[in-house]
Amino acid sequence: MKNKLLAFNWKSNKTKIETKDWLVDASSVEVPEGIQVVVFPPFTLLDVMNGYIRVNSLPFSIGAQDVSPYGKGAYTGEVSAEQVKEFSEYVLIGHSERRSNLKEDNELISKKVDQALSQELKIIVCVSSLDELSGLKPEGLVIAYEPINAIGTGNASDPKDVEEMAKKIKDVGFQNVIYGGSVNSENIKTFLDLPSIDGALIGGESLDPKSFINIIGNAV
Ligand code: PGA
Repeated sequence: MKNKLLAFNWKSNKTKIETKDWLVDASSVEVPEGIQVVVFPPFTLLDVMNGYIRVNSLPFSIGAQDVSPYGKGAYTGEVSAEQVKEFSEYVLIGHSERRSNLKEDNELISKKVDQALSQELKIIVCVSSLDELSGLKPEGLVIAYEPINAIGTGNASDPKDVEEMAKKIKDVGFQNVIYGGSVNSENIKTFLDLPSIDGALIGGESLDPKSFINIIGNAV
């Protein structure tokens, strides 16, 4: 059986103290065979999470929510792929909130992907349409298909539409496609059971350790 990837995106949530509480509560998580779990906290929490996960042998990896389109050097405020790599195995690139709030375009996203590839990070690129795949080469990328109107609304997309779109993404050469948008412990299995879907990207429901545990438990 091919592994399914469950990626949990905290967005701009949690302080260090809140993170320690979450980690203590999430420690009882049991990850079923065939499921791979990655948590994406903000940059400020990568170090603390990385340390805790290693010391306590928790069964998940961590990733950064963004990466610089440049290497090291005079790029104030950016965090380079080399720096991300010190704490994370994964990186999330091109989330729709960054595309809309910060006007990130396909060209910038391709540069970020190139930087992440140069450090051998595992990459998830978020798209809400086929156009957003433009300029990307499939090698080494997981594509998260996240329809804008399903993100953070509680209205997950129709699984039929998700399957159709995931298939189209695969038809142009991308091998791994996950779905994101109002995924919860009730609907996770429906999405993971779709033939062209290889996992899920979960936002809001990542923040409560109980939902995190339930989503993982209901994934198989
Ligand atoms: P949501 O967010 O699960 O809160 O809809 C998904 C995402 O933005 O990645």
